[in-house]
Amino acid sequence: MEKRNVLIDCDPGVDDVMALLLALANQDKLNILGVTTVSGNQTLAKVTKNIRKLWTFLGVEIPTACGASRPIIKEPLHGGEIHGESGMDGWDFPEPVFQLESDNGIVFLKDKIMESKGKVTLVPTGPLTNIGLLFSVFPETKEKIELISLMGGSIFSGNRTPFAEFNIYSDPEAAKIVFDSGIPIVMSGLEVTNQASIDDKEIEDLLTSEGMVSKMSGSLLNSYTNFHRSKGLDNYPLHDVVSVMYLIRPEIFKGRDYRIEIDTSKGVYRGRTAADTGELMKHNPSNTFVLMDTDREEFMKTFFHALKELDKLV
Ligand code: BDR
Ligand code: CA
Repeated sequence: MEKRNVLIDCDPGVDDVMALLLALANQDKLNILGVTTVSGNQTLAKVTKNIRKLWTFLGVEIPTACGASRPIIKEPLHGGEIHGESGMDGWDFPEPVFQLESDNGIVFLKDKIMESKGKVTLVPTGPLTNIGLLFSVFPETKEKIELISLMGGSIFSGNRTPFAEFNIYSDPEAAKIVFDSGIPIVMSGLEVTNQASIDDKEIEDLLTSEGMVSKMSGSLLNSYTNFHRSKGLDNYPLHDVVSVMYLIRPEIFKGRDYRIEIDTSKGVYRGRTAADTGELMKHNPSNTFVLMDTDREEFMKTFFHALKELDKLV
């Protein structure tokens, strides 16, 4: 398989961290051109500090920039009750020494895309603000993007409102720009990400493992699951991991084509990824391949293997 050039746009966020770890462990398949942060699970300042902490902990040098500090129109919305006060609660990271390459994530993304020899795949795992701004300000970048593999949306029901998923609900105007861009999209929405869930036993195994990356991941996940437990849930979805996993192991997923329209109305459906399979598609063809199922066993096997590989580094 030829290496894919990827740019990851994220809001770490515990599951964002897990997605980044999976990408880092699979650099034989992914050429990581850079990473950008966006306001989402926590403020831009916090999520950016989180990625600097993570890179410092791992000792890696991935070009990184911070992007938008708020959605295009909406007021910022954060997910502190899930990811904690820092956005990455559960592990005592040392103060970061890693330095950002740029504090203008939109120009950074444009430069990385335009400088790339080959086409680029975008992997957004937070609100789509940076990508919406990128396409608005630098539309020439669209020509060089072969795929957007994103975590966001849902066909049947939301997790932030009854109809909308957090990332899309956080910035529906940006999401609309992205889904209307004409670029092929693979959407990892709640239908598939809820299947990619870790359980208590697996977290316990990570916590008691020898490797520092596995241990750190277990601690973050343990803190992340507190929220789900408090709601009486016993499944802890690794949402963002799915959008990276698809690029590494597409064969463990099933999905179908949909025409996705983003609801930007001010009513109860705001932020919904409205899906059409039938009549409308005759006039407006499919713009999104929506992942609907995964082989959980294979998914978890690949995820745990990635953490073990990274254990060798720290
Ligand atoms: C999405 O929202 C965030 O809390 C997670 O990081 C993920 O990107 C799931 O709805
Ligand atoms: Ca996220």
